[in-house]
Amino acid sequence: MRMIQVKTYEELSRKTAAIIAAQVIAKPESILGLATGSSPLGTYANLAEAYRNGDLDFSSVTSVNLDEYVGLTGENDQSYRYFMNTNLFSKINIDPKKTFVPNGCADDVTKECEEYDALIQSLGGIDLQLLGIGLDGHIGFNEPDDCFTKETHRVTLDPSTIEANARFFASIDEVPTEAVTMGMQAIMQAKKVLLIANGQNKKEILEKAFYGPITPQVPASILQLHPDLTVIYSEN
Ligand code: F6R
Repeated sequence: MRMIQVKTYEELSRKTAAIIAAQVIAKPESILGLATGSSPLGTYANLAEAYRNGDLDFSSVTSVNLDEYVGLTGENDQSYRYFMNTNLFSKINIDPKKTFVPNGCADDVTKECEEYDALIQSLGGIDLQLLGIGLDGHIGFNEPDDCFTKETHRVTLDPSTIEANARFFASIDEVPTEAVTMGMQAIMQAKKVLLIANGQNKKEILEKAFYGPITPQVPASILQLHPDLTVIYSEN
């Protein structure tokens, strides 16, 4: 594991974007595993800027996102599909048909989960997976549990996650209580994993996840077993 500590969120975002840019330059047809939430916003802004400057070409890239709320369509401005379209996909030259986010409104969510794993397999797995980390140690929406779940699956969100995500909604009652998330297999099989976190409030969970025991009660701790993990943290 490489732990890179930086001073500011801007520096974190520039470094993270630089690592993703290096991946896309070295392998234009990369499969990028992407995350939503507040942590990657600066990274996505930097990637969009690099594209505008003519330094990056996403035309051969495929993206697979980690998760989506159950019950929100892609048109809902709180959905993760909407987030990705707004903050990244509409600002770069990625082919929209090669951007994948789980469908949280599928009639058959179980089938949707199976198909999402089959899709990732058919793409040959993920080259670089970008992750944030929840205050309870979740990655994607793999919440603390008695075991790690391998496959893409439907989850009930932890009350602490609902509380943390309420900041994006008009009220806490509007936060969906369920999500579809990529499981640990696709994440652990990614060739490279890049986890980013900023703020004093993430310090404790980072210590637990990367310097404590590997346990499904701290889902991110499984990443200690990944052969190519980079964590970038800024206190501010
Ligand atoms: C989002 C995701 C989540 C977030 C985590 C941290 O796609 O998978 O695991 O990365 O909740 O969120 P922020 O970055 O908002 O602190």
